[in-house]
Amino acid sequence: MAYADRHTPQTPVPVLIYDALIARHLRHPRGFLGRRVARQMNAANLPLYELALDQLALGPTDRTLDLGFGGGPGFTLMAARTPGGVVYGIDSSATMLKQAERRHVNLIAAQRLIVLRGDFADIPIADAQIDAIVTVNTIYFWADPTPPLAEAMRVLAPGGRLAIAFRLPAVEQRKKFERIGFLYRAPDIVADLMVAARFSAATIAQGKGRTVPFFCISAAKPA
Ligand SMILES: C[S@@+](CC[C@H](N)C(=O)[O-])C[C@H]1O[C@@H](n2cnc3c(N)ncnc32)[C@H](O)[C@@H]1O
Repeated sequence: MAYADRHTPQTPVPVLIYDALIARHLRHPRGFLGRRVARQMNAANLPLYELALDQLALGPTDRTLDLGFGGGPGFTLMAARTPGGVVYGIDSSATMLKQAERRHVNLIAAQRLIVLRGDFADIPIADAQIDAIVTVNTIYFWADPTPPLAEAMRVLAPGGRLAIAFRLPAVEQRKKFERIGFLYRAPDIVADLMVAARFSAATIAQGKGRTVPFFCISAAKPA
């Protein structure tokens, strides 16, 4: 056996610890490291937001909601596509909420953006107040997809649309993230979940990531 083979560690412990730390901040960005991770997400995730917003065919006065907004990369795009509408953002992270309040002072002051701390499974918005919901890179954390889908259905107005965007790495790469708590579902499974939650037949769109493909599954609440 060659020297390199004998001495290659079988379990790359330091990498696992690093991955687990990053995963923790992807799921719940907190403090300094949470802000650093969010900054990286902002640039990397814009194409997913663009694909998702394209599927929603937004009208100028639509009320939109970003569920799990993170560093808020979608807010400016959403506001630009709905110049007469209001953008809502819900996230469970206090760090992300504070950051959004600091970064989007003008949109908030103009009452074009409302950010709230809350949970996917208990959205702090009254029934039928939203025309379109986008949620990007959050489905990995939906251990049980039923409550978030039911809540999305509840806050949507009749005919309102939901777009769920996420990356789907190759199987080998996926395993690493699955070990640290991410859940991956194939696009047709996500479409089936939406239909089971009483959304209309779902549409699957695919984006070309530089390294990892991404998808957006969209469907409407019956009118
Ligand atoms: C991977 S980040 C994605 C952020 C943003 N959507 C993007 O793509 O850049 C996931 C976000 O979902 C939020 N989140 C996780 N679990 C949540 C929950 N149960 N309710 C609300 N937000 C949650 C996290 O705080 C984090 O900001």
